[in-house]
Amino acid sequence: MTDTKKHQLNEEKFRSDDVDLSKVHSDFYELFALNHKKNMLCYVFEDPKKYEDVISNPNYYLFKEEAELISQNKVLLGQYLQNIETLIELGPGSKNSLIYKTLPLLKCASALSEYIALDISENYLEKISEFIEQNTNLQVSLIQSNFLESIPPLPNNGKNKAIVLLGGTLGGFDEDDRIKCLQNISSFAESGDVFIISADTNLDKESLLRAYSTEASKNIVMEVFEYYASVNLDFKPYKNCFDMKTEWEESSRTISHELSSLQDFSFKIKSHEDIQVSKGQEFQIVRVHKFCEEEFTKLLNSMKLRVMSIAGTGNIKLFITMKY
Ligand SMILES: C[S@@+](CC[C@H](N)C(=O)[O-])C[C@H]1O[C@@H](n2cnc3c(N)ncnc32)[C@H](O)[C@@H]1O
Repeated sequence: MTDTKKHQLNEEKFRSDDVDLSKVHSDFYELFALNHKKNMLCYVFEDPKKYEDVISNPNYYLFKEEAELISQNKVLLGQYLQNIETLIELGPGSKNSLIYKTLPLLKCASALSEYIALDISENYLEKISEFIEQNTNLQVSLIQSNFLESIPPLPNNGKNKAIVLLGGTLGGFDEDDRIKCLQNISSFAESGDVFIISADTNLDKESLLRAYSTEASKNIVMEVFEYYASVNLDFKPYKNCFDMKTEWEESSRTISHELSSLQDFSFKIKSHEDIQVSKGQEFQIVRVHKFCEEEFTKLLNSMKLRVMSIAGTGNIKLFITMKY
């Protein structure tokens, strides 16, 4: 990455020394000592290669269907994106999501001059400028930021903007964070800006388990412990001593990943009592939510993101909205 690109990354570094580790330790204390059901997906976004492994699984319909949906709806997208000058993608992801989703979407926006990628993870951002610059004439900027906290305002206000959030990213957050994320997007957007988001409405247990109960998913989930081992060396010897079980709970439309310990062990968490883990003990650490089209439409409208069009007849729906 060039220095100019690098200086555009803001200072918020997920792993930097000034990250408040007391919150991290208390999250893991709640998981291990209090057996709280947690959603710790916020600790995993470190390795784009592992995300590539997930999306290359032919049973991971989310990726394939969403890419097809974009390519089948070029005309519709072109209508909403025709006056857009700046496109901001939240969580653009890895190489194949850039090839099969971002690039086709950018090509629908005939007046576009600028692409901004915003992601929490420097690892994901790293390759984006090179790829977009090689494949388009757009000016590219990178922002490293957590969109659950806020989306920093852009210096070049006044341009027509589109904001895009794809790839089931919102479904990886629990309800409070989903609302926070949409509120932040809505506050960032100005009246008339376009916001495009996809939502997975699949409720079919078999296909969901085929998509999520995989070794590639386990590798992503295990990143939670990989991360914790990097900030608590006492936990490091045990970070891989777990098996994963994936379940679908229809009443809450939730996929949950549980890890069960393969052995007894104990370790220390700073400022907390020692932790004892027994063989077979289970910990729910990641949840993924699926959506109902009507409810999601209402939620977006309530955030001043008026739903203008919903594309898709399969599991994945593309919601095209406009800030009012
Ligand atoms: C599931 S991937 C989706 C990738 C891609 N958009 C796609 O459609 O395949 C989620 C992306 O969002 C980023 N991300 C997740 N939570 C975030 C947050 N709170 N703030 C900023 N980026 C986040 C991840 O680093 C990753 O690049």
